[in-house]
Amino acid sequence: MRSFSELQQLFTAALEEQVIRREPTGLYEPVNYMMALGGKRIRPVMAMMACELFGGEASDALPAALAVETFHNFTLMHDDIMDEAPLRRGQQTVHMRYGVSQGILSGDLMLIRSYAFLAEYANSELYRGLMNALNDAAVKVCEGQQWDMAFEADASVTITDYLRMIEYKTAALLASALEMGALAGGAPVAEARKLYEFGRLLGIAFQLLDDLLDSFGDPLKFGKKVGGDIARNKKTFLYLKALELADASQKSELEHLYSSETIDESAKIRQVLQIFSALGIPEVTRSLIDDYQNLAFSQLQAVEVPGKRKERLRELAAILGGREH
Ligand code: IPE
Ligand code: IPE
Ligand code: MG
Ligand code: MG
Ligand code: MG
Repeated sequence: MRSFSELQQLFTAALEEQVIRREPTGLYEPVNYMMALGGKRIRPVMAMMACELFGGEASDALPAALAVETFHNFTLMHDDIMDEAPLRRGQQTVHMRYGVSQGILSGDLMLIRSYAFLAEYANSELYRGLMNALNDAAVKVCEGQQWDMAFEADASVTITDYLRMIEYKTAALLASALEMGALAGGAPVAEARKLYEFGRLLGIAFQLLDDLLDSFGDPLKFGKKVGGDIARNKKTFLYLKALELADASQKSELEHLYSSETIDESAKIRQVLQIFSALGIPEVTRSLIDDYQNLAFSQLQAVEVPGKRKERLRELAAILGGREH
């Protein structure tokens, strides 16, 4: 069973063969740019690890891994338009570099390509299971993204609303990647579902950490604009918990900062971060991340394969929990 970095390398090599050399270059160049930008490749690695967990070869899960990673990159391309984000993986976002229309259309193409990868399984019994798993995640990502955007202008959002939103926009795809890999590795449906549940909990921890890094990460390592969520009035756990812990004057300051349209962006980010820090929000968030990681680990225990086989997935979860980007 291969390690995270071995599978990452295997996947990167497979991805290099997918570079598109055809016209119109205006359509394909942004796709190649996005796919070559790097990224951690955690979803394809998860799919291949899940496959190996049940005795499959990583290559059995490769088309599913390509489908999931291409789908993920499509969502990032469109998400960066929605979030008006300038930076992705330390480089210019696609819509900043090529324009919004290019970002939309090249993103659409990537969505189509992701399903085309799955068609490699078309003659197998597996196909239906893989299609259902990808479709389920794809619908949830759209639902989650809609909530994420609507929440920007909604002052009544609760932590429960937030947790459901991140489960949909982020955790569902991590969960389906694991489930798909497990199915490709020959896992019984019930066992693949347990891995889905492991991925769902890990995915919630993953997005919580993304939100924490968005406010408190090192700009040189994070690869995205630090403070971007605050600039966009995102109703993250950090903000919602801060409202809960704030005294009356901190609460009204936070609410003012999140509703003012005139305040300078960097001053706003600085002031919000000051309140978050004073309230111990980074520590509270870290502790919730650890809770979800632990819940995920206990789900993994329920999977019926020898404990030793699960070591790679445990390692992966630990890497994700300690990441800085
Ligand atoms: C970014 O995902 C979007 C979120 C769900 C937080 P990743 O952090 O996996 O992004 P890359 O692919 O490694 O750049
Ligand atoms: C996006 O969440 C999750 C997606 C489905 C794309 P974010 O908006 O926090 O992702 P980043 O921080 O831009 O990667
Ligand atoms: Mg974003
Ligand atoms: Mg977003
Ligand atoms: Mg983010």
